[in-house]
Amino acid sequence: MKITDALLGEHAMLYALFTDIRRQIDEDRSIEQLQVAVEILENQLWTHAQMEENHLFPALEPHLGQMGPLRVMKSEHQEIDRLLGAAKAETNPEQLKSVVDELIMLAYSHFRKEEMVLFGMTRQVLSEDEQENLGNIWANERGVTIDGAGCPSQAAG
Ligand SMILES: [Fe+2]
Ligand SMILES: [Fe+2]
Repeated sequence: MKITDALLGEHAMLYALFTDIRRQIDEDRSIEQLQVAVEILENQLWTHAQMEENHLFPALEPHLGQMGPLRVMKSEHQEIDRLLGAAKAETNPEQLKSVVDELIMLAYSHFRKEEMVLFGMTRQVLSEDEQENLGNIWANERGVTIDGAGCPSQAAG
């Protein structure tokens, strides 16, 4: 499996978390409950961003350079981190909602840029093998089996 397919799957999980945290805000959950949701979101966003920064971006750097899209993506990761920190420090419910709103809007637009531009560039500049190798690193780090043999009795033929 290619790294971009793995990262797209993680985006889908994160979109579900964004929807859930928005629902909790709409339901006027307590600040303690919202903080728990923010911590879960922080962990998942961090794990995802680390995969990109430690594996995908270094593989793209020889092709794209350190400036341009990679620099934009890294600086958006930092801005997302800053907003997560601000959300965790917030004790006023209305302020917390507004920070979380800003955070989710930025994360949405960041993910869209990756999906529309960066992942397309990845498929253009990395070979199939390089994309598969990065996919294997992802599977290894996440503990996912991607080459299961299936059931022999169900094999076609
Ligand atoms: Fe990212
Ligand atoms: Fe991403």
